Amino acid sequence: MATVLVTGGNGYIGSHTVISLSENGYDVIIADNLINSKMEVQNRLEKITGKRFKFYKADCCDEAAMRRIFEENSIDSVIHFAGLKAVGESVKIPLDYYQNNIVSMITVARLMKEFDVRKLVFSSSATVYGMSEDVPFTEESPLGVCTNPYGWTKWMLEQVLKDFAKANPEMKICLLRYFNPVGAHESGLIGEDPRGIPNNLFPYISKVAGGTLDCLTVFGDDYDTPDGTCLRDYIHVVDLADGHVKAIDYLDKTDDCVSVFNIGTGKGTSVKEAVAAFEKACGHEIKHVFGPRRPGDIAVCYASTDKAYRLLGFKARYNIDDMCTSCWKWQSMNPEGLSD
Ligand code: NAD
Ligand code: UFG
Repeated sequence: MATVLVTGGNGYIGSHTVISLSENGYDVIIADNLINSKMEVQNRLEKITGKRFKFYKADCCDEAAMRRIFEENSIDSVIHFAGLKAVGESVKIPLDYYQNNIVSMITVARLMKEFDVRKLVFSSSATVYGMSEDVPFTEESPLGVCTNPYGWTKWMLEQVLKDFAKANPEMKICLLRYFNPVGAHESGLIGEDPRGIPNNLFPYISKVAGGTLDCLTVFGDDYDTPDGTCLRDYIHVVDLADGHVKAIDYLDKTDDCVSVFNIGTGKGTSVKEAVAAFEKACGHEIKHVFGPRRPGDIAVCYASTDKAYRLLGFKARYNIDDMCTSCWKWQSMNPEGLSD
């Protein structure tokens, strides 16, 4: 059984991916420093899969701690989710973001080279397309100018990994550019569990729906879109997780050192449509008001999904209603999130 090291595997996307990997016959090892997740996730994963995964509480920037993982296990491939991801926070503490995101990836890449582990899937983001609105974004769309340090770390790490692969042609690296991951596992046992007041739309709506927050502010209703609010390509986290399994499988087949894929649905949903879909899922009104635009937001962002379909065989299965239903189930079953 091939073994995948999942860094950041205790987090939102990582935990869902651990389930998909396990369901597809992979052995999983998780490394996470718990900076943005709770240990309870491991109990939940055990409930869902019936398996207790090997877990290392380790910081990916700590070379000695990470070396131990490579020494103790026969690792076939790595999925690197570990990183800090809050756009607003990255503007306030940029050095922490550059330090954590860049050093963690470089440390893991060095160890992969040392231990001859050749397959890597990296969590990139649609944010690398910058402020362009030339939609749909294809993998060939020019990379743009990012509006925040978080975005730049993804942009820079794509370049770092391309250079790493060029110098080490035995490497097989897949850069997955996620669009907007939302939703939760159908069991309601794991889902997005942000600390404090959420910045992203779905966690915010969930908390308003659940009564923890009073009212959603829709950032801008004067955009050049059908209903005036921004369009995003929301993708169910379970679909996204499956995309990682397909990416790992693809790395066994491809001769390319670096492969880049968008992972989205190819469909734009407006903020107003997202609110309406959530209202349908939870069965009551979501209180919302319209406020000014949020700086740095673009009007429209959605993926061309052709390449992922053609080469990975990836196609999203779930629609916005499924995303809202699963989000609401997770919120209702865990109104305070997970305990430490
Ligand atoms: P998350 O915060 O839920 O998960 C990240 C996990 O990594 C957390 O469990 C955290 O404790 C851990 N971590 C952070 N720094 C670490 C370090 N140095 N060593 C070990 N563990 C560390 O975030 P997520 O939403 O699951 O995102 C996973 C990846 O996908 C991130 O790299 C993120 O930037 C990227 N991404 C996320 C989104 C999104 O909207 N969620 C969109 C595009 C890309
Ligand atoms: N929005 C609101 N009110 C809120 C929160 C968000 O109206 O309280 C709107 C935003 O203005 C935007 C849409 O909802 O139009 C989606 O916003 P999110 O913050 O949920 O997501 P973004 O598209 O801004 O960004 C997300 C991640 C980035 C990532 C990007 C592409 O936060 O890290 O998707 O993957 F780069």
